[in-house]
Amino acid sequence: MEQLLQRIQELKQEISGFEATDAAAAENFRIKYLGTKGVVKAMMGEMKNVPAEQRKEFGLVLNDFKQFAEARYESFAQRNGTQKAASAGIDLSLPGDAIPVGSRHPLSLVRNQVVSIFKRLGFAVAEGPEIEDDWHNFGAMNLPEDHPARDMQDTFYINQNPSWLLRTHTSSVQARVMEKQKPPIRVICPGRVYRNETVSARAHCFFHQVEGLYVDENVSFADLKQTLYFFVQEMFGKEVKVRFRPSYFPFTEPSAEMDISCLICGGDGCTVCKHTGWVEILGSGMVHPKVLDNFGIDSNKYTGFAFGMGVERITQLKYQVNDLRLYSQNDIRFLKQFTGAV
Ligand code: PHE
Repeated sequence: MEQLLQRIQELKQEISGFEATDAAAAENFRIKYLGTKGVVKAMMGEMKNVPAEQRKEFGLVLNDFKQFAEARYESFAQRNGTQKAASAGIDLSLPGDAIPVGSRHPLSLVRNQVVSIFKRLGFAVAEGPEIEDDWHNFGAMNLPEDHPARDMQDTFYINQNPSWLLRTHTSSVQARVMEKQKPPIRVICPGRVYRNETVSARAHCFFHQVEGLYVDENVSFADLKQTLYFFVQEMFGKEVKVRFRPSYFPFTEPSAEMDISCLICGGDGCTVCKHTGWVEILGSGMVHPKVLDNFGIDSNKYTGFAFGMGVERITQLKYQVNDLRLYSQNDIRFLKQFTGAV
């Protein structure tokens, strides 16, 4: 034991006197003292020759020695690294290159904004699959097999199994919510939907929706109007006017489409509003009793309203984007023009 301590003392002195003037010398030092076949490892191997009652003390000395050698190596390595950089003309004190930060997609910005407005009214977000079955997309929504309204939404069917399809609206998510949850229900369903359309500036084979559903006792058309009115004011500003027009959807009765006064011309008439002063932004209505009954929700006790809007449409109005294809072309010149808080 005495001999070993003596040896460690000598090695420490040896190390103190060691100088590494270049990276190769620093590496030699590492191999000699800290490598797998190095001096520190060898000393550790001596542990077994130390009498049991002295092992603890020896261990402490050895550990101290190891840290000493490591610290010495660190200082060589650091110095030589810096020297190397300096001789290569690199100034390590310069700030690094900034990594460019991307920006949110305009559709994400708008979707998040829509979601946050409805969240403040107590709506929770619900999501569901993009590949759906016929029941959740159509059947449960009161569009039986031969219903002509199925043609309103040209559908992509899955070849392997034609009872599967790409959802044409996120009403399918509302169906899944009603399946699991009983009233009160207050959800919004943001998501991508698909329709078999020829791609052009005005139509696309996929787009995004936010649909909403509110089912409880005593929910009325007045609640629907006030909720959507609040949404429009939060989204587009207090001065924007709204109007409801009677419409038809198989899953709501009565149904209405909602227009807002044109944001581009302020209602005076322009090409965006086709000189009417109004633009349509969503479909809505009171949930059809048959739809509630499909999920075992007693339509004598409960009523509800639903609505659905296209995120592209709202984004188009907010940012005056006139070609739908821009949203999915991933052109960075387009994408980097949008900034927003959410
Ligand atoms: N599902 C309809 C569509 O995709 C929108 C809608 C939802 C209309 C809820 C009324 C009520 O066009």
